[in-house]
Amino acid sequence: MTPPSTLTVKIRDFIDADYPALAAVQQAVWPQQTVTAEYLQHGDQELREHPRQPHFWRIVAEDHSGQIVGAASAVQWPGMFDPHRYHAELMVLPEAEGRGVGRALAEALWAHLQERGAREILAGTQEDRPRGLAFLAHWGFAEAMRFFDNVLDVQTFDPAPFAAAAQLAPGYRAVHLADLCAERGPDAAWAAYFAGFVQARADVPRTGEASPVLESEFRKRGTHPQFWPEAVLLAVHEPTGEVAALTELWLDPADPARLNTGLTGTTRNHRRLGLGLALKLKSIEQARARGAAKIWTGNASSNRPMLNINERLGFVKEPAWIEMQWFAPESEAKQ
Ligand SMILES: CC(C)(COP(=O)(O)OP(=O)(O)OC[C@H]1O[C@@H](n2cnc3c(N)ncnc32)[C@H](O)[C@@H]1OP(=O)(O)O)[C@@H](O)C(=O)NCCC(=O)NCCS
Repeated sequence: MTPPSTLTVKIRDFIDADYPALAAVQQAVWPQQTVTAEYLQHGDQELREHPRQPHFWRIVAEDHSGQIVGAASAVQWPGMFDPHRYHAELMVLPEAEGRGVGRALAEALWAHLQERGAREILAGTQEDRPRGLAFLAHWGFAEAMRFFDNVLDVQTFDPAPFAAAAQLAPGYRAVHLADLCAERGPDAAWAAYFAGFVQARADVPRTGEASPVLESEFRKRGTHPQFWPEAVLLAVHEPTGEVAALTELWLDPADPARLNTGLTGTTRNHRRLGLGLALKLKSIEQARARGAAKIWTGNASSNRPMLNINERLGFVKEPAWIEMQWFAPESEAKQ
């Protein structure tokens, strides 16, 4: 068999008219991550407007007919911001793989990041993608962390064994964000939600130190097209009024039968009281009432507390996502 010939591509800057093609490439490469052009555009807009002014760069690979067959990006992720750290993404349409498109994109991306003086680059792929893993290893990346997508079949979930666990401990009550806004007024409700979120998020495992969430940015999620305020479930500690635990379900940009979990977290003083499990049970009930088929959630493989809850509920693991890391030679010594 003759090997496939090299595909000559033009690497050029991304333009707004490319969003539909970018979404199509991403959907083909990562079929499980449902995506739309509008969703990608909304995310990019948030990055452009972010007060941390993260660097953000996209390129595409176009074949001789003008079809986009691959794309790459580099971004200073605001949630884990460091001026020397970049998240890189590179995707090639499956039918164009093995023909030099990835290399052409990687060379352009690499030149861009070297020019910017990047000291750390994060990029990921799935454990069942040997080409992607070998590609990243070739560029000097090594595994940093693993994450699982966990999926629950909502329709076959049996709540009966969890009837007692679904009750919150005495002194706590469950309320969703929309009702808390009606009770306290939106500003006080969002402030309580924000305070609980920030504390719970502090212990989520990640590859670098989390940057503080800015309250002004946090509030913008209220206008996000996939935000569902009735599915932001909060456990309020009645004596203090504070949000002690939360779980969130977000609508999916492309699949109405799918819901995606945002943060599930319990603030440190309120852990091991069953709040996390009880809220998750209530969110499954909400998903069922909505007619959803699946709930997706992503967890670090090192996050035993969260995995224990999800395993107990019957979430099933998808192949792990492997976050790979590259350090500039002079930075490596400092790790
Ligand atoms: C994961 C987390 C939400 C659990 O919240 P919680 O309210 O303390 O959990 P619960 O009390 O409902 O625990 C229910 C069950 O989960 C398991 N579990 C919870 N914490 C655990 C821990 N530290 N170690 C092992 N198992 C744990 C146990 O099986 C527990 O049941 P048990 O107490 O009867 O043994 C909490 O530890 C947290 O906020 N972590 C940081 C945020 C985070 O990582 N979120 C997930 C992001 S993907």
